[in-house]
Amino acid sequence: MSVTVLVEAAQLLTLADGPKDSPRAGPAQRELGLRRGHSVILRDDRVAWVGPERERPATPGAAEIDCRGRVVMPALIDSHTHLVWAGDRKDELELRLAGADYEQIFATGGGILASVRQTRATDDDTLLAESRARLERMRRSGTTSFEIKSGYGLDLATELRQLRVARRLAQETGARVRTTCLAAHALPAELREHADGRAEFIRRICSEILPSVAAAGLADACDVFCDRGAFSIDEAREVCLAARALGMQLRLHANEFGHTGGARLAAELRARSADHLLHLDDTEREALRAAGVVATLLPGTSLVLGKPYADGRALVRAGVPIAVATDCNPGSCALESLAMVLALACYGCKLSPAEALCAVTHNAACSLDLNHEVGRIEPGMSADLLVLATPDYRDLVYHAGSPLISQVFQRGHCIWAV
Ligand code: NIG
Ligand code: FE
Repeated sequence: MSVTVLVEAAQLLTLADGPKDSPRAGPAQRELGLRRGHSVILRDDRVAWVGPERERPATPGAAEIDCRGRVVMPALIDSHTHLVWAGDRKDELELRLAGADYEQIFATGGGILASVRQTRATDDDTLLAESRARLERMRRSGTTSFEIKSGYGLDLATELRQLRVARRLAQETGARVRTTCLAAHALPAELREHADGRAEFIRRICSEILPSVAAAGLADACDVFCDRGAFSIDEAREVCLAARALGMQLRLHANEFGHTGGARLAAELRARSADHLLHLDDTEREALRAAGVVATLLPGTSLVLGKPYADGRALVRAGVPIAVATDCNPGSCALESLAMVLALACYGCKLSPAEALCAVTHNAACSLDLNHEVGRIEPGMSADLLVLATPDYRDLVYHAGSPLISQVFQRGHCIWAV
């Protein structure tokens, strides 16, 4: 048995004071359950005890970590990534920086399709190695739980390979991984010339790809890129209903390029999450709130593409629970540090540091059905937590990008320390 004590944190963010079975919205999203001078006992992979240092039970032989002058908080949960891909699109980055448009690059066969070509042409070991290198950098940046989407295969074999690699990443590293099939990411090149190519692709997704993925137990959820230039509302609905019939949760890329109806569809289908949401009006926000959909904001993508930021304040006012994620992908945002993106959610989406912190812990956990494992620091929860080399969690925003994360614990093991 291994016992570790985190002794007398200047700030311990437990997230333990609000609802635990549901994501937090409105003023409740600011409630961090902050305790001062508290200690935490980790036993094997679990949090065993939390309380004031003076009441701490004796634990002979335990490793003690002095957390005076430090913050202890839950490890980060990245609830929207595309992190299994091969190759890169740094050439497109340069084109965009010189003025080219992301949607235009996509429409002319680059963008997602460029990553599909590279991913299809790469063997499993290389795909795993490239993805693992990213995942390791993300873990060193404080993230120990991940949602990982497919969507750079767009054919059955490669979608299955991507999802298997995602599962292997979990097995090999101990990171928590939820997988999502995003076969409906783009119309593949081989169907673009066919008159009924779109209908044929939707048919393949619904009757071949999703059933095979479900039979192999490879995806927890299904996602559709429902936006201008990608898939329509009717196409997205068809894919989502097929996925739901197979027992998958639903997540949607929605309202990134315009008021395309994706957010309304997410509400209609009671999706777990609607993501991006750069363009949203009051009635759409109300629909998300009433349906209990988590709004997942991806401000790194706004930064990289030079797009507007989602309006976080309007979502808080409307009572919609907010998660924040990296969207880590080869094109629109290859940022890996969720801590950095948390800061962008403050500067860009105007969340408060406390709201953004809940968005990358408890609320992200809820959107992935991981909220009884991670996202709060309480007895019985998995010992996934961070020690920060500062006494004030707001430094994650104030000093965004500085190396403040001094220790990362995953399932009770210190996997990174500086
Ligand atoms: O979430 N919007 C669609 N999918 C990704 C981008 C993927 C890519 O460009 O490769 C996103 O931004
Ligand atoms: Fe995405």
